[in-house]
Amino acid sequence: MIRAVYPGSFDPMTYGHLDVIKRASSMFDELIVAVLNNKEKSALFSVEERVNILKEATKDLVNVKIDSFSGLLINYAASNDIHVAVRGLRAVTDFEYELQLAQTNRQLSHEKLDTVFLTTSLEYAYLSSSGVKEIAYFGGDVSPCVPDFVAKMIQDKYKGKGE
Ligand code: PNS
Repeated sequence: MIRAVYPGSFDPMTYGHLDVIKRASSMFDELIVAVLNNKEKSALFSVEERVNILKEATKDLVNVKIDSFSGLLINYAASNDIHVAVRGLRAVTDFEYELQLAQTNRQLSHEKLDTVFLTTSLEYAYLSSSGVKEIAYFGGDVSPCVPDFVAKMIQDKYKGKGE
């Protein structure tokens, strides 16, 4: 049985993330989507909200579980018997950071955690959580980027701001 982890900030989850989740879930026996609980980084959504968004969006994917973690990914992976991390690559601009992350994790874990990259489907290649938040902040339409219930949650956060 191969269990993989898809770690990220997911602030909030976009259709790009969902695309990676669906594709990765068909490759592994179990996929754990793990939301980083990073107290240093200010986020629009709390970890609990981000976990709940992911749970709702993936409720039909039986082998997908949603969790959160703090600290190093390699420690989370080791304590859950995970040896594969999944990350999405949108464009060459992602590559340098992702390469460094993957190599750091492989080195730090003494080669126990490897990273598998999925290239984002072209229709979602332009999407980023920060872009989505900026569009919503200025009152733009984010419905092509996130499920409707998430669009509503972002709009509620920004009500009265940015216009
Ligand atoms: O969605 P993001 O913000 O690009 O995800 C980045 C994430 C969460 C995968 C990465 O920051 C991470 O794994 N952080 C946990 C701390 C860690 O393990 N750092 C070691 C590599 S520098």
